[in-house]
Amino acid sequence: MSIKKISTQQPQTFEFSKENFFHAEKEIKKYPKNKKVSAILALLFLVQKQNDNWIPLAAIKYVAKLLDVSYIQVYEVATFYSMFNLTPVGKYFVQVCTTTPCMIRGAKKLTDVCKKYISNDQNELSKNKICSWTEVECLGACVNAPMMQINNDYFEDLDEHSAEKIIKKILVDEFPSPGSSKNRKSNAPEKGKTTLLELKNA
Ligand code: FES
Repeated sequence: MSIKKISTQQPQTFEFSKENFFHAEKEIKKYPKNKKVSAILALLFLVQKQNDNWIPLAAIKYVAKLLDVSYIQVYEVATFYSMFNLTPVGKYFVQVCTTTPCMIRGAKKLTDVCKKYISNDQNELSKNKICSWTEVECLGACVNAPMMQINNDYFEDLDEHSAEKIIKKILVDEFPSPGSSKNRKSNAPEKGKTTLLELKNA
């Protein structure tokens, strides 16, 4: 499991763009005035979207002020959830699942590929600053293990060779085709359907 790293390079200030401020206000209004704290997750998502996919400490302070809650309340949410990045991530952000089903199907080989081609330490940018990677807990695609997520797409049924091809592509700023590297449809059996044969779309 990865330990959440906090960037040592922190911007001094943060504030929402006009558009995101409008969205933030809309989120806050969904809750009673004395329960504004419930909007923390939504606001942190907006911060991350605005700030190149990571959350600086100044933004945590900003969100706390906006919601009228303590800094630590926002900080503990930002540090708890793995989908929040507290260090800058690459344009291509690789998340390798290392929970048990992926691990027993070879996830360690995927992390070795990431270490070799992207950076030895997770959460560090590649030399050309275009990629970064991290280990994460189950991403819900266990039946197609081992797998990894790059930005919003899943890459499944991987081994060290398919993972290497994918990583090499993103390192030269090309996005590979997502899905199963064994070309299986969704999570159907590798050799095709064995049941419900009479149904076309099953
Ligand atoms: S264990 Fe890897 S996706 Fe579930």
